[in-house]
Amino acid sequence: MVVAPLSAVPQDIVCAADYERHALEHMDDAAWAYLQGGAADELTVTANCDAWQELQLWPRALADVRNGHTRCTLFGETLAHPIILAPVATQKVFHEEGELASVLAAGVMGGAAVVSTQSSIALETIAENTQGPLWFQLYWQGSREATLTLVKRAEMAGYRALVFTVDAPVSGARNREQRAGFSVPAHAVQANVSLISLPTLLDNMSTVFDGLMAIAPVWDDIHWLINQTSLPVLLKGIMHPNDAIKALEIGAAGIVVSNHGGRVLDSTPATLFALSGVVTAVNGAIPVLVDGGIRRGTDIIKARALGATAVMIGRPYIHALATAGALGVAHLVRLLREELEIAMALTGCKSLDDINISVLRKDLFFNRNL
Ligand code: GLV
Repeated sequence: MVVAPLSAVPQDIVCAADYERHALEHMDDAAWAYLQGGAADELTVTANCDAWQELQLWPRALADVRNGHTRCTLFGETLAHPIILAPVATQKVFHEEGELASVLAAGVMGGAAVVSTQSSIALETIAENTQGPLWFQLYWQGSREATLTLVKRAEMAGYRALVFTVDAPVSGARNREQRAGFSVPAHAVQANVSLISLPTLLDNMSTVFDGLMAIAPVWDDIHWLINQTSLPVLLKGIMHPNDAIKALEIGAAGIVVSNHGGRVLDSTPATLFALSGVVTAVNGAIPVLVDGGIRRGTDIIKARALGATAVMIGRPYIHALATAGALGVAHLVRLLREELEIAMALTGCKSLDDINISVLRKDLFFNRNL
């Protein structure tokens, strides 16, 4: 039986993993399979989480960290902390208030949220009901014209940045989700755009190459798009350093190192292992963010030590949303921020700028070509 969302946070929720445990009771089996699952055998889903646990931190004693803080500036905006809500589709699957609840929580906690093209609530309605900065996640709409229409809507509605997802023009089967027979319920379906029609395929044609990939964008299209908008455009889903260099060349304003939470291509490296290569390639020219398996404040300090400006969280805030709506999401962000503050204080870092590679134990790890 699915238990209704709670109106108060139970005492036994003290970290992100506790929300995951609770969320199970507030979702049906199919929604759970959709949220937790990834592509194929979920090797990447597991690898993302495991990788952060392999790194270790050097504590530093007696550091003076008075007046320390977790503030972070991104695209001219100062955020209270570097924990950004990643774009997650159709959030009414998980809570009746959907995206309105998650963006409210992000804003109240002084952070930014990224609204998905596939949100259950219209992007304009979400923007009208927010207190904090919102970025808009963009999927290619099959043509330049249709994509630009969506960009203009996001600009008009007051979104501060665009996050173009580059890693999912086609997706590997999500075995767990398919076995569970998940489909988005009618009340939660995407509200912004209708489904894109695919080219008609003859018998001998490939659904991948002649279907989805035939209407997928290429580098030139994104270069064109960047020149059509005054908003900063981040590319989300970059893993390879050579793609990071291309992103820079076409004028991307930021990169999100991401493998889509392991939901698209199975068997990719964990995002942690891709981060340093991208940071090195970009060489400080634009911010590099990372998502995938971030579950604790110590994961955030590790990401920062490897050169990430900020992190995105996905599944963890949906666990909190399903458990206790906006209250749950705000509480989760507070827990992560407090964990980050503790990790900073105990590694001698007063601000995010103080966090660098020296907080990490290197001998275990740095012969692994990070
Ligand atoms: C959508 O982007 C998803 O991963 O489900």
